[in-house]
Amino acid sequence: MSELVRFGVSLEKTLLEQFDTLNREKKYTNRSEALRDMIRRELVQKAWREGREVAGAITLIYDHHTRDLMAKVTDTQHDFQRLIISTQHIHLDHHHCLEIIAARGMAEEVQLLADALMSIKGVCHGTLSMSSTGREIG
Ligand code: NI
Repeated sequence: MSELVRFGVSLEKTLLEQFDTLNREKKYTNRSEALRDMIRRELVQKAWREGREVAGAITLIYDHHTRDLMAKVTDTQHDFQRLIISTQHIHLDHHHCLEIIAARGMAEEVQLLADALMSIKGVCHGTLSMSSTGREIG
């Protein structure tokens, strides 16, 4: 971690009150930590926008009884194998599975992998949690 630097910030009173309310709701104990996280969120979004190397998690909910679905999910993961760090499969109930795929690679490729998985017929819900390799966020 790099050296800590203090700096002053001028804000409208009402904006500061809104910031403090938000921080209380989000359980931040001080403004500095809340501000650091806001800056990091912006940096992560910028990395994705600029197509840099990123990391993220793709979650899928699907009914494993759907015809050919399991084969397609597996085939797609093999097609993008170099991006995938790990995969976890959880049997939620008799029908439903939750699959969590951790991926790292160039933003566009990780997005392509997420789109390819989420668009498979029978996938009920999918998300891509866009995160970072950790290198660009201090
Ligand atoms: Ni399952």
